[in-house]
Amino acid sequence: MPAADALSFLVQGEWVSGEDIARRQGISRAAVWKQIQALRRRGYKIASSTRRGYLLMEQPDRLDAARINKDLTTRWLGREILILAEASSTNSVAVSSIGQRKSGSVILAETQKEGRGRLSRSWASPPGGIWMSLIVRPDIPLSRIYRINMAATVSICRAIRQLGLEAGIKWPNDILIREHKVCGILIELGAQVDRLDYAVVGVGLNANNDTAAFPSQWRSTSLAARLGKSIDRCALIAAILNEMEQALDDIESHELYEEWRSRSLTLGKRVRISSPEGDLMGQVLDLDQDGALILEQGGDKRRILAGDCIHLRPERAAEAT
Ligand code: BTN
Repeated sequence: MPAADALSFLVQGEWVSGEDIARRQGISRAAVWKQIQALRRRGYKIASSTRRGYLLMEQPDRLDAARINKDLTTRWLGREILILAEASSTNSVAVSSIGQRKSGSVILAETQKEGRGRLSRSWASPPGGIWMSLIVRPDIPLSRIYRINMAATVSICRAIRQLGLEAGIKWPNDILIREHKVCGILIELGAQVDRLDYAVVGVGLNANNDTAAFPSQWRSTSLAARLGKSIDRCALIAAILNEMEQALDDIESHELYEEWRSRSLTLGKRVRISSPEGDLMGQVLDLDQDGALILEQGGDKRRILAGDCIHLRPERAAEAT
């Protein structure tokens, strides 16, 4: 049994008896002590007392599959987790090994050297962030693939809410807190003519990483900056996966669409959309069930399926985000 398993029975800030940990794993108290020593070597601060047992005082800010598992309630998502100290891009790792990976596999990296964003942009991925790719195979027609985006953005907003922060969705797939970008999503698909084979959902979430060095036009923020303290990345990853499995299981539901629409920060805004057809400016009238944005432009209604969106200030139509 790996040394990290004692971790599953420790609770931060609470004493747990060594006997209890030993009994629950079916091992001796001496074996528990060895696990505790191994955890200490990995940076966990654990107090011990012969009478009271063990007290988990501090956990290192490190991605750890055992810690994610501890809070995971999913049936299929995240049941296989690969954690890399460094990756070129977790999406690239997922795509290049897709044949060997089950649906629900998750790939995480502490840093990415060639993190990729939408529209062939690069994605800065310093330590402390959540750089994660999920392999999913939802049974939906190709015309409904934007539903994967809905499930991803809604579930990340729900998980962020558990930290006491309100996040919203900027069309098509950014997550903002007070008009500052905290998370971006890059979905890459493999498909036959009429059928989806797989989707790799790449999540780039600024958690404890410093965003001060990011270009100011990105208007980035992090969860730690908003909360004024570091977050437990492993617990948040588990919360995202728990929410994401539920949203993916309900991927065709009207409720998912309603929640996605209600969390939209783009609905009703004046926007500029850069799309393959050129730049369009107008008022967002609606967001439809397939994720398309309905734009009113000079009395005409346009249905836009993809593009880069900039929110404009209503009064002077000056750029805001
Ligand atoms: C965007 O807003 O442009 C999307 C950014 C997506 C970044 C994530 S980080 C994990 C995964 N691996 C990548 O190379 N990109 C995505």
